[in-house]
Amino acid sequence: MSEQTTLVTGATGKSGRRVVNQLRAAGVPVRAAARHGEHPFDWTDRTTWDRALEGVRSVYLVPLDGTTLVRPFVEAAVRHGVRRVVLASGRGIDDPHYAKDDSGILEGMLDGERAVQESGLEWTISRPGWFAQNFSEGFFADAVRTGELRLPAGDGAASFVDAEDIAAVVVAALTGDGHAGQVYELSGPRALTLTEVAATISGATGREIRYVPLSVEEHVAELVREGWSSADAAGFAEIVGPIRRGTDAYLSDGVQRALGRPPRTFAAFADATAAAGGWPS
Ligand SMILES: NC(=O)c1ccc[n+]([C@@H]2O[C@H](COP(=O)([O-])OP(=O)(O)OC[C@H]3O[C@@H](n4cnc5c(N)ncnc54)[C@H](OP(=O)(O)O)[C@@H]3O)[C@@H](O)[C@H]2O)c1
Repeated sequence: MSEQTTLVTGATGKSGRRVVNQLRAAGVPVRAAARHGEHPFDWTDRTTWDRALEGVRSVYLVPLDGTTLVRPFVEAAVRHGVRRVVLASGRGIDDPHYAKDDSGILEGMLDGERAVQESGLEWTISRPGWFAQNFSEGFFADAVRTGELRLPAGDGAASFVDAEDIAAVVVAALTGDGHAGQVYELSGPRALTLTEVAATISGATGREIRYVPLSVEEHVAELVREGWSSADAAGFAEIVGPIRRGTDAYLSDGVQRALGRPPRTFAAFADATAAAGGWPS
């Protein structure tokens, strides 16, 4: 492996996969690490960490949510001579009113941010809001498949960000100058309600997708009827809370600051996903 190798963890996920693709398109040697990826890596098996870090100069770090493993991993990275790290985090993690954190996801992210900031490495933090890709390959893809987004989001809106833009910011920070010490909060160019999201996906796919607003209680009851545990159902409903409350509707300027261009619109994301055959059907 070249000394210039870039390690990407979470390499099969929504952001990591795109970081791998964009780095390779730019000719950068990449080690694509995940449990089921090209390079086997498991956050919960520390014997896989050293092999992942061998000969690596830069790392895109997608943490295992709900853990504080970033800190020991960054310490290992320093021992291996890594120079630069870009950390996947999230908007809202430093807002105590953002969401309940029963599973320790937000606390884990905050600890990870502190760990990279204290590491002595060149660090950059990516803090995206809601990914647009949650509708095509994430939390809400099954709902899009059924044609009904049945969610407790009320009339709330969120400024969904395209994971291609997230990846472009990460790649710029991994490969370019001027990004060290930056915390990039990332959003799309406009906040959309779920009614607008459904209409945009309908327009791109030619299928009717409807948003059906539910109360939190109705949503939890539906998930439990589908076989979810009450705790998981309540946790999922809580994830949607920031959309319902409008706390993820604000716009962030990270894409513009990092890339010198505005973020892609949700409509452009929806059309590009349709052109690539990426909508669940
Ligand atoms: N989705 C959103 O709207 C959103 C918004 C803000 C922030 N975030 C945060 O952004 C980060 C990245 O999210 P994402 O949506 O890109 O991720 P994702 O699509 O959920 O993918 C998770 C990745 O982690 C890997 N992984 C899971 N368990 C692992 C383990 N034990 N060891 C090693 N790898 C493991 C998975 O691959 P394998 O299964 O092959 O191991 C996969 O590559 C997360 O921290 C998330 O909380 C997400």
